[in-house]
This record gives sequence, C-alpha cells and structure tokens, in this order.
Amino acid sequence: MPNNNPAGERDLARPPRHIAIILDGNGRWAKKRGLPRTAGHAVGAETFRRIATYCKNIGVEYLTVYAFSTENWRRPEGEVSTIMKLLGKYLHEAIDTMERDHIRMKVFGDLEGLSPELRALVQKTDEISRRYEGFQANICLNYGGRDEILHAARRYAEDYAAGKAEGELTEERFSGYLYSAGIPDPDLLIRPGGEVRISNFLLWQCAYAEFYFTDVLWPDFTPEELDKAIAVFRSRDRRYGGVKNP
Ligand code: FPP
Repeated sequence: MPNNNPAGERDLARPPRHIAIILDGNGRWAKKRGLPRTAGHAVGAETFRRIATYCKNIGVEYLTVYAFSTENWRRPEGEVSTIMKLLGKYLHEAIDTMERDHIRMKVFGDLEGLSPELRALVQKTDEISRRYEGFQANICLNYGGRDEILHAARRYAEDYAAGKAEGELTEERFSGYLYSAGIPDPDLLIRPGGEVRISNFLLWQCAYAEFYFTDVLWPDFTPEELDKAIAVFRSRDRRYGGVKNP
C-alpha cells in the first residue's frame, strides 16, 4: 500500500510534507462586516497567497486547497462569476511569481467545465510547473473527490480496453490516474470555518491524513494558525493501521 512514511515515525523537526486546506468561511467573514460575500472571497484569495508563501518558507513541499467544488456551481450566478474572476486574476498574477520563485502550481479538477480563458491560464501554469522542482501549490477547481475517482476509473478502463494497462490494478497504479498523480498523500488536512466534515475533498488521498478543524474563518487564518495546526499534527501518533512497539 502506498504510504508516505512506512515506519509511521514522526519527524519532529520537519513540517508536514503535504498540507491540504478546505477554504471555508469567506461568506460569513464578509457578512459579519456587513460586506457582500464576494468581498470575503477576495480577502480569502489574499489569505491563500500569504499561507502558500509561509508554507514554502517553512519547508512544506505541497499545499492543496479546495477553492471551488463541483457543487459550488449552485451558488448565485454573481458569486460564481466573481470567484471565477478572482481565480483568473490569481492565476494570471501567479505566473510571474512562479517564474521568479521557481514555484509549481497545478489545478486539480474537471477543466472542461471551466472557461477557455481559465483553461488557457491553467495550461500556462502547467507548462511553467514542468520546468521547476520546488514547492507546489495545487488549487482544486471544479473539483469533487467522487468525481475524481470516477474520472480516474474511466481513464483506467479506457487504457485497459486499449491494452495499455497490463498487470494488476494496485492502489499505487490507480493513484496514477487521479488528478494528484505523482504527489504524496496529504499528511494534514485543515478545515477552518467551524464545519467538521470532509465535503467530498481528496477522498482517496486523505485515507491516512490527520484532520484539524478550527472555528477561525478562512480570511482570518494566519501563519500562527497554521503553526497551531502543525503543532497538533506533531502531537498525533500516526500508525497507518499498525501498532507501535508491539
Ligand atoms: C468557501 O467559503 C469558499 C469558497 C467556496 C470560494 C473560495 C475561493 C476563493 C478564496 C477565491 C480564490 C481562491 C484562490 C485559491 C486563489 P464560503 O463562501 O462557503 O463561506 P461561508 O461558509 O461562510 O458561506
């Protein structure tokens, strides 16, 4: 079974290799201030920038965030279009940062549901990412965990039918069909915003992740909050279904 840390040992000096975050609470943050929900998303995008920079600086290798789910299309049209505009603006600006700091950025999700402009930006960030090896940020966009697994199963079935999938279908091989192919599973999943559920996020990949929930709303999430989550993560005993010192 694929396992980032087969010995199940905690390395107290190192941060988690891969952190996943469900960005939640933007709307409530704005409402509390008498602002439109979209203002919360704008601040949330800045929070993402700050947290991604912090993750890179402390040696986290991968940061994956849930920005827009396959279900989020049900929101009012104005809110959806503002989120899409913000994402476009963010990706556009990120291109310069990626080149300057040698950062990789990927989008996980069903790209066919996105506008041609966003798809072009995703293609560009993919191209740049192939050139570098450092910190990688993954933005889940038009993403659903079940949808990802189905998508992977369909692609595997196509390869199988075409005679391109010889040998046994293992967990490792199946993982290669997910959007996250080649990336280690998240060690720590953080959900700000007070809800205690996974909401169809990285269902396959979070099999052994440690979960951290906080009432802090995403726009208020700071590097200090991330430090708290990492401290809790470090205090956990990860056994991957095994036992320690039997
Ligand atoms: C959840 O808060 C947030 C979203 C559905 C959108 C997140 C999108 C962004 C922050 C835009 C840009 C993102 C990046 C990564 C650049 P909510 O609206 O569900 O909040 P609520 O639960 O308080 O209503």
